[in-house]
Amino acid sequence: MDSFSYYNQTRYVFGHGEYRNIGNLLKGKTEKLLLHYGGGSIKRSGLYESVVNALTTAGISFVELGGVKPNPEIDLVRQGVALCREEGVDYILAVGGGSVIDSAKAIALSVTHEGDVWKLYTKEETLQTTPLPVATILTLPAAGSENSPNTVISDRASNRKLGYGHEQLRPALSIVSPELFLTLPPEQMAYGACDMLCHIFERYFTNTQGTELTDALSEATMRTIMQQASILRNEPQNEAAWAQLAFSGTIAHNNILGLGREQSWTCHALEHELSAVYDVPHGAGLAVLVPAYFDAVWQANPGIFAQWAVNVMGVAASRDTERVVKEGIMRLRAWYKSLGLPQTMEELGIPRDADFKAMAEGACSVRPGGLLPGVRVLDVTSAEEVYKNCL
Ligand code: NZQ
Ligand code: ZN
Repeated sequence: MDSFSYYNQTRYVFGHGEYRNIGNLLKGKTEKLLLHYGGGSIKRSGLYESVVNALTTAGISFVELGGVKPNPEIDLVRQGVALCREEGVDYILAVGGGSVIDSAKAIALSVTHEGDVWKLYTKEETLQTTPLPVATILTLPAAGSENSPNTVISDRASNRKLGYGHEQLRPALSIVSPELFLTLPPEQMAYGACDMLCHIFERYFTNTQGTELTDALSEATMRTIMQQASILRNEPQNEAAWAQLAFSGTIAHNNILGLGREQSWTCHALEHELSAVYDVPHGAGLAVLVPAYFDAVWQANPGIFAQWAVNVMGVAASRDTERVVKEGIMRLRAWYKSLGLPQTMEELGIPRDADFKAMAEGACSVRPGGLLPGVRVLDVTSAEEVYKNCL
């Protein structure tokens, strides 16, 4: 196991009806906040009204900015920054899924920063100030942004989707009330479960030795995600299953499972290129890429893949490691299919003649040395092959 330092500032409030306490939880913490949300799901569900009532009752003054799109964009972030400066906002409340939370974090990061916010993502500028605090009410369990220190934003002008991480971007407060997920369409549940699972894959498939504790915690979390998502596929109104899925989604990405081990993030780097160029949902892109990536890398560390196949995918243990691993990967593909997730580039709407070389270059460019880490290190040529094997 490697050395590590872990800091997590989020007050995490979980349970039915807890979102109604948002006013009390924020009272005294802000002079004026920005209420940030997406394209309208919170208005249709009645959540917007409940939040506005709770803030008003608590005497919290606020301004609002809706309209965050899935794969959130830098232009709206810039608009949010200008609004916060004009209005003297000192706190951001994000009510939505990963996209709304990431957009809120981007605004929080930039209000006190004098330069251009996008240049923080491209690493042309560095942050000298402290981000504003962010609170979240989660409406879609998937990205794990409610407890992660990251934000991922797209710039349509340059077709780039980039992440930025900062310890102070872990929300100060996150509220997870499982009944808020009952309005989600089935494909969002599937994208979310796929994303959570991949957040664990990026940490679990490592060459680091002596990681039994986080291996076991990861395996339990992966099994829970798969079980609960399968239940929700048939019973979308099962609030108890949503509760377990959502808690697993937070655990999958608050980095408890990644402590003391080398991490990969290669599938995420590859997927962000697909989302940047073709605007596909993050979880859908991952469903296509992950099995092809596993096919390409498992031989570099058959032991960890066989352990996963047996402990998570329920394959019978055997000395025939290749058969065990291949059966595990086949079961993963079947599980994605059972959730209605896409399996090929074509199903994602990405043409055969897409510029996979440029996407491979883009993915590699965000990693040190231009190489994608993991059980096997990928260069531009091998990354391009992974894309092509998804055709
Ligand atoms: O915009 P509204 O109208 O709210 O609709 C949203 C959106 O269309 C809808 N939705 C959300 N809650 C709902 C609902 N519809 C009905 N009922 C509800 N309760 O769902 C759609 C998708 O929402 P979005 O926020 O885009 O999805 P998700 O939570 O999967 O977030 C995806 C984004 O997170 C990034 C992804 O790259 C992607 O941009 N990620 C962020 C990470 C982080 N910050 O740590 C890590 C992840 O790996 C990921 O990259
Ligand atoms: Zn993800």
